[in-house]
Amino acid sequence: MIRPDEQTAPNPAELPTTKLWGGRFDEPTDAFVEAFTASVGFDQRLFREDIAGSTAHAKMLAKVGVLTTAECDKIIDGLNGILLDIERGDFSWVVAYEDVHMNIEARLIDRIGDVGKKLHTGRSRNDQVATDVRLYLRGAIDRIELELTRLRAGLVDLAEREADTVMPGFTHLQVAQPISFGHHLLAWYEMLTRDAERLADVRKRVNILPLGSAALAGTSYPLDRDYVAELLGFDGVSRNSLDAVSDRDFVIEFLSAASVSMMHLSRMSEELILWTSAQFAFIDLPDRFCTGSSIMPQKKNPDVPELVRGKTGRVYGDLFALLTLMKGQPLAYNKDNQEDKEPLFDAVDTLMGSLRAFADMIPAIEPNRERMRIAAKQGFSTATDLADYLVRQGVAFRDAHEIVGKAVRHAQNAGCDLSELPLAQLQAFSPKIQDDVFAVLTLEGSMAARDLTGGTAPNQVRIQAAAAKKGLQRS
Ligand code: ARG
Repeated sequence: MIRPDEQTAPNPAELPTTKLWGGRFDEPTDAFVEAFTASVGFDQRLFREDIAGSTAHAKMLAKVGVLTTAECDKIIDGLNGILLDIERGDFSWVVAYEDVHMNIEARLIDRIGDVGKKLHTGRSRNDQVATDVRLYLRGAIDRIELELTRLRAGLVDLAEREADTVMPGFTHLQVAQPISFGHHLLAWYEMLTRDAERLADVRKRVNILPLGSAALAGTSYPLDRDYVAELLGFDGVSRNSLDAVSDRDFVIEFLSAASVSMMHLSRMSEELILWTSAQFAFIDLPDRFCTGSSIMPQKKNPDVPELVRGKTGRVYGDLFALLTLMKGQPLAYNKDNQEDKEPLFDAVDTLMGSLRAFADMIPAIEPNRERMRIAAKQGFSTATDLADYLVRQGVAFRDAHEIVGKAVRHAQNAGCDLSELPLAQLQAFSPKIQDDVFAVLTLEGSMAARDLTGGTAPNQVRIQAAAAKKGLQRS
C-alpha cells in the first residue's frame, strides 16, 4: 500500500504530462496536496470492481451506438490486460493519478491509444466509485455470509453433541438454573442467525446500480442502464442521480450490521474467556488457539477470543466514522466521501477475520463436563424446581417461593444442597413435600422439565438443532 508519507519520488517517466482533468489548471498541484488528496494507496483494492464496471459500461456504450464494436473490443482487451498485470503485481500505481479509477483509465490510454479516451463517455468518477463500492460490498457480504454459515454449522454440531451436558445457567453472573450446554450454544446460534438475516437484508439495498447518474444529474447519452445492471448482477437501477452518487447509507447499514455481529462475537468471547479460566474450567481450548506468557511459564491465554473482544471497538469506530462523515454533507457528491473506504475495508477485514477464527475454534472446544456439572450443583440451582413442585401440590407460587427461600437458608447454614436435606427436614418447611421431590431436585430432572419450545430440555435442544440444520441447508 502506498501512503502519502511513504512516497518515494515518482519516476518522471511514469508521470502523466497532464492530469486527466488538467485542462483548466494553470499550475501543477502542490506536491503535498497531491499526496494528501490521493486515494490510490487504499482504493487500489477496488481494481477488480472498477474493471468489471468499466467493461460493462463499454459493452453498453457499444450496444447503444456510442462506441463501435471494434472500439469496445479494444477497450475490453485493454482492460483485461490491465487486470492481469495488476493480479501479477506488474502494475505501478501512480499517486499523481489520484485514485484507482484514473490509474486504470490512464494505463488504458497508454496501452490502446486514443480509443481509451472514449471509455469515460457518459460517466463520472462519482457514479463510478459508488458502483465500485457497491460491487465490492456485495462480494464482501457474500464472503462474510459463507464464514458465518460455517460458524453457525459448527455451533449446531457441538450443541447436538452436548444436548445432555448440564451446566449452570447464569443471571447476574450468579448461578440461576441448570441448563443444557447445547442450549447455551444454540443461544449463540440464534444471535448469529439474526446477524446473517440482517446482512442479507442490507445486501438488497447495496445491490442497486448507480452508474448512469454521472456526476450528479444523469447524462445526455442514451445509456441503457438496465443492461449494465444485468451485466453486473445488480437487482435494479437507482432512481435519483443526486442520491445515487452521494449517499453512503448502504455502507452505514453494513457497518451497523457488522457492529452487531462483532458485539455478539464479543459476548461469546467473554464467556469463552471466563470458561477457560481456572475458576470456571468449563472448557479447554486447544493450544493452537492460545498463546503463552513470556514471563509466566504456566500460562495459556485465550488470545483469540480476547482479540475478537478487543477488535469489536474498531468496527464500532468504523460505524461512527461513517455516520459522522455523512451528517454534514449537502447533496450531491463531496470529496468527503473518499473517506468511506478505509473504515469499510477495516470492518470487512475485521469481521471476516473474527468469523474465520471463531469458525475454526468452535468445533475444537473441549468441554469439561464434570466441572460444569459440579458448578451446576452449586448455588441451589434447582430451588425454582422445588417451588414449582409445591405449586403442583396446590401451594400458591408466592407461598412456595417463601417456603423454598427458608429451605435454602437452612441448607446454606448446613453447608449442603437442597437435594441433600433429609425428607423429614424438607417436610418441616412444608408437609406437602413427599419422597418424589428428589427426582425434581436433580439437575437432569430440572432440565428435562423445561420441555417447551425454546426451553432447555435436552429433547428441545435436539429439536432446535435439527431445525437449525435444515435452515443451514437452505442457506
Ligand atoms: N477517489 C474518489 C472517491 O473515492 C473518486 C471520486 C472522485 N470524484 C471527484 N469528483 N473528485 O470518492
